[in-house]
Amino acid sequence: MTVEISPSILAADFLHLEKEIKGLEDAGVDYIHFDVMDGHFVPNLTFGMSFISSIKKMTSLRGDTHLMITNPQHYVKEYIEAGSDILTFHYETTHFPIRLSQQIREHKCKAGISINPTTSVQVLKDILPHVDHILLMSVEPGFYGQKFIKNSFKRIEELKEMIIHEKTNNKIKVDGGAGLSNYKQLIDAGADILVIGNDLFIQKDIKSYVRKIKEYEK
Ligand code: DX5
Ligand code: ZN
Repeated sequence: MTVEISPSILAADFLHLEKEIKGLEDAGVDYIHFDVMDGHFVPNLTFGMSFISSIKKMTSLRGDTHLMITNPQHYVKEYIEAGSDILTFHYETTHFPIRLSQQIREHKCKAGISINPTTSVQVLKDILPHVDHILLMSVEPGFYGQKFIKNSFKRIEELKEMIIHEKTNNKIKVDGGAGLSNYKQLIDAGADILVIGNDLFIQKDIKSYVRKIKEYEK
């Protein structure tokens, strides 16, 4: 299966967003990844729902929203109405991941759960049947352009095995430090979707970059 690409808009040129979005559409990416940071769960602040809805007004690309915020349960409806086709929260921010996923799915939106690089993959086992996507962080969340944590390859394999064993069919999405230097290994390990920020937006020719990654099959 062809890997899907979800560019993190955080790494785009904010002064020329319209041009950046058109470039992504032309390149054939699958989603736009929105990194929402609150300065509490992570040591950085980015944007909220009004930014997402403005971007969604200029594109039909699916919205892949990654909430790095405390109390995500308070904002589900708002982020879905803003244009999220997938809404992902962090395992580390809730005691009730199943309830929160149900809340998201009730709005006909796909639910995703994310874990930090130091949270055991095993905590996901009982949550798998209740979510669509698993977002494995391969850097500590907070900033784009960080160095990929190598241990993540093993974690992807472990998660893939668990999904096969549990027969839950979740998509594995990897986020942080992905790009030309590691996409083959990430796909080989079991990644279905790559979130890419820095490595994609520094390219002069995003279209060939996307084509090259998508051409690779396990
Ligand atoms: C990190 C974010 C990532 C990041 C990806 O907290 O969740 O989505 O922006 O950017 P790169 O690919 O530059 O690590
Ligand atoms: Zn992200």
